[in-house]
Amino acid sequence: MSPVEWASRVAKEFEYNQQDVRQATRHFIKQMEEGLERDGATMNQIPSYVTAVPDGTETGLYLAVDLGGTNLRICSVNLHGDSTFSITQSKVAIPVSIITARYFSELFAYIAEQINIFLQHHHENLLQKYQDSKDSSPGHIQKRLLLGLTFSFTFEQQALNRGTLLRWTKGFNIPDAVGQDISAVFQTEIDKLNLPVLVVALVNDTVGALLARSYTSPGRTKTLLGAIFGTGTNGAYVEKMHNITKLIRSGKFAEGEMVINTEWGAFDDELLVLPTTPYDLAVDTESVHPGIQMYEKRISGMYLGEILRHTILALVSTTTSIDVPLDSKLNQQFAIDSSFLSMAAADDSTDLSMLRKQLNVSFNINASRELAEAVKILAVAIGDRAARLAGVAIAAIVLKSGRLSVSGCDEPSKPGGTPQPRNENHAGKPISTSLGRSHEKIDGQDIIDIGVDGSLFEFYPGFEDGIRSTLKDIDGIGYEGAKRIRFGLARDGSGVGAALVARMAEQESKLAGSTL
Ligand code: BGC
Repeated sequence: MSPVEWASRVAKEFEYNQQDVRQATRHFIKQMEEGLERDGATMNQIPSYVTAVPDGTETGLYLAVDLGGTNLRICSVNLHGDSTFSITQSKVAIPVSIITARYFSELFAYIAEQINIFLQHHHENLLQKYQDSKDSSPGHIQKRLLLGLTFSFTFEQQALNRGTLLRWTKGFNIPDAVGQDISAVFQTEIDKLNLPVLVVALVNDTVGALLARSYTSPGRTKTLLGAIFGTGTNGAYVEKMHNITKLIRSGKFAEGEMVINTEWGAFDDELLVLPTTPYDLAVDTESVHPGIQMYEKRISGMYLGEILRHTILALVSTTTSIDVPLDSKLNQQFAIDSSFLSMAAADDSTDLSMLRKQLNVSFNINASRELAEAVKILAVAIGDRAARLAGVAIAAIVLKSGRLSVSGCDEPSKPGGTPQPRNENHAGKPISTSLGRSHEKIDGQDIIDIGVDGSLFEFYPGFEDGIRSTLKDIDGIGYEGAKRIRFGLARDGSGVGAALVARMAEQESKLAGSTL
């Protein structure tokens, strides 16, 4: 069998048809409901304690720390109150020694040091004044900058500023962290350096994406869902309080709405409806956390390259005509980044020159056109299945929200009308940005707004089309419903979202008559 024939056969194993997506969407809604009902369900459905979505009028200067899967960002965010903001930021790749440190405190000692460097560069006066002062009065302490921490992992939340880690995902593994009070450990390390910083908010990146999108979108529609399709995947959405039965039982809340962090990466960890090929099994077995995050392992950037690597290795083992040197990186775990899939899918040249060059440069494989074509078939099959699967989560949340059956728009108008062009970020340079624009109705019907962040959504060709193909396949959404669903990039979600929650914490404490 030729490489192309072999790849086409394997590609069929990655097809995810209409019946599959319908069944998965039903199961997704069921697991969402179970998560709202009780702790310890497959999908955690974690209450974020965020009970209001911003309307774009919020103002103030806040610090934000964004701890994601690969990078650490420190930002100061200035909310202008007109749906725009400026952001100053620095970004470093998190060292492996920190990702797998022995103690949780080591991670936060590292972050506190990065904040120190950031303040020295961008808020030197404030830092100097604070550290030179001998004053220890409450007035002095109040001069601290309020900080929101975006923590892109699964943590149980007890208040806006308090949460404990449930489990690590992606490549992180610091066993001593599980169960610890995240903000408290962080604040201790900040205080050791005597920094003018107070941690007041703890936010999942998806909650950040949702809030940032809602702040920056100048139209009337409040965003329903913030989704991340990057190194990991997850979503946070606005749920009616009366549906969050596990919270109602606590007696603390009764009405209104709350943002729920679904932790959908764990959807169907039991593998009742998710598609599973031998390559998915191999990726899971070799992962740092086998047996969990099964949905994430079929969708997110951390794993798609690995699935592709396993299929290419299987292809190579079927033929003697492909020469892969023993020391080729293809033999190393995580050697293929998801950007490779995006590049392969985008290479439309007749001789697949870009893909062949990359196979040569990255893996020392002298690829014929035929071999490159086989690799492209595999990459597209894996990427397209990921997009179809991503559509399942979106479909389930849209259906569950009931927003498709609402046609009137009751939200008060937001200020800050005219859309601004989006600027790219440059580390350390303040810029003004505004995300996502709105036409509030399509064919006279309300739009459902969704904020999305992550490299797959942004760079994999046709990721949004794949999601939409699923939406069209789902009963209750279909072609007409899919037209009403609008996706907008929420690229700076983690920074701006954390700043917005820091502001909420500040407002709450003012309302309660106390100062932070
Ligand atoms: C984490 C989520 C996070 C997502 C996207 C997942 O691995 O469990 O908390 O939101 O990655 O970063």
